[in-house]
Amino acid sequence: MTLSRTFDVEQVRQDFPILGRSVHGKPLVYLDTAASAQRPLQVIEATDVFYREHNANVHRGVHTLSQEATDLYEGARSKLARYLNADSEREIIFTRGTTESINLVAQSFLRPRLQPGDEILVTHMEHHSNIVPWQMLCEQTGAVLKVVPINQRGELEMGELEKMLSERVKLLGIVHISNALGTINPVADVCSMAKKFDIPVLVDGAQAMPHTEVDVQALGCAFYGLSGHKMYGPTGIGALWAREATLDAMPPWQGGGEMISQVTFEKSTWNELPAKFEAGTPNIAGGIGLGAAVDYLAAFDMSEIAAHEHAVLEYATGRLSDIEGLRIIGTARNKAGVISFTLGDIHPHDLGTIIDHHGVALRTGHHCAMPVMQFFNVPATARVSFGMYNTAGEVDLLVDALHQTQAMFS
Ligand code: ALA
Repeated sequence: MTLSRTFDVEQVRQDFPILGRSVHGKPLVYLDTAASAQRPLQVIEATDVFYREHNANVHRGVHTLSQEATDLYEGARSKLARYLNADSEREIIFTRGTTESINLVAQSFLRPRLQPGDEILVTHMEHHSNIVPWQMLCEQTGAVLKVVPINQRGELEMGELEKMLSERVKLLGIVHISNALGTINPVADVCSMAKKFDIPVLVDGAQAMPHTEVDVQALGCAFYGLSGHKMYGPTGIGALWAREATLDAMPPWQGGGEMISQVTFEKSTWNELPAKFEAGTPNIAGGIGLGAAVDYLAAFDMSEIAAHEHAVLEYATGRLSDIEGLRIIGTARNKAGVISFTLGDIHPHDLGTIIDHHGVALRTGHHCAMPVMQFFNVPATARVSFGMYNTAGEVDLLVDALHQTQAMFS
């Protein structure tokens, strides 16, 4: 993978065919990348070519199509391994996404290690996918879920976190970038604090992958989960990264084809990594599409993408702050391209519906982070989230649409 493109937002926009469409007669302004990013032609074509020319099951056939499909699918795994700076492709388990990655760790890694009274730590800004699997595990084992607090900016209370670390803590789950607030957590610092107590850290990387360089070795985490569709790849595919020794020591999670070495009615034995954790026919086209998304991102210097998105974020923060009655929820000093907000007493759902008629797609609701809403004492927010293709001009269209919505309600 070599850097082959200089970042130019207008050129990038040409790669995303959907950005050329209109909604309700207005040019689409897509500000919902945190929910799901749009796909560039390179990803669309990779899956299309797979179905047109190579479609077959993987790992099972000696025929040409099966071998081609296997090469493409395993090639995607290798690309992702290199992109994350993993030691080998055996450290990449394909999953349906971050949610499945976390559930896998909960049930295969942590469940056998827990005793009643053991603690699992998560932060107050987690997505439900990094809360609920641990709650279920606590019910199954008698372990206790503890919550690391955040401050009014939506930043992690690092001092409190330090106080909560102890030998009782068997895992710490933390989001790399909050989908609801945009906060970028100091994950490497958190991992080095946890290391003093040998606490494995699981990082929810769903929102981080499209916005920042991720080097799993530099972060020092034990597990990193990601989702294809947040990083310009397909839905229904994602990955879990962990060290080979960690994965080797974990029992399989789901049983079925692919994950076995030998099966008799008396006993079955397990395949090697990564197949041990990939029961059944995988999402082959999804994996290949994810590989294409990795190629797409890897062609750029990620710091150029991040700088562009940061400039859009700053511009949008300034313009939104000038709107009377608009309250931004989440003002962390280190923030990615997400702005959650409320506008006077207009319900976010009404806001989202009306603004859609201006061609602007934003998300409204609790963003799968109800505890964040509870912390800020709001039932829901409207949220704009930026991808590499968004522009300051689109922010102006958003602001115009917000003014018109406000005028309607007054
Ligand atoms: N959790 C996703 C979001 O942030 C769907 O919108």
